[in-house]
Amino acid sequence: MGGYSNVKEWVAAISLTIGAAAVGYLAYRSLYSRDKCRKSLVNLDIQKDTPKVVHAFDVEDLGDKAVYCRCWRSKQFPMCDGSHTKHNEETGDNVGPLIIKKREV
Ligand code: FES
Repeated sequence: MGGYSNVKEWVAAISLTIGAAAVGYLAYRSLYSRDKCRKSLVNLDIQKDTPKVVHAFDVEDLGDKAVYCRCWRSKQFPMCDGSHTKHNEETGDNVGPLIIKKREV
């Protein structure tokens, strides 16, 4: 009888240990995959042969309105071509362009 009780205690202890290990593993995996997402690329294919993509414009040359891409999916980069709409639909993201315009007087 005492031996049977001992076995039951061992089974309970092993079950508890396995359960705690599973919870720890799932928590670690959850944190790891979140960290992996943070490190994912923003720029998938624009000027990948350069170390840094930089564009500069003179304010005087902007005209009345300039619309710049912030989603990095535009085929007219750095100008917005509306590709952010498809990107947002596919990913659930909510990015949109930067619009610079002259104030109407
Ligand atoms: S296409 Fe990228 S913000 Fe519009």
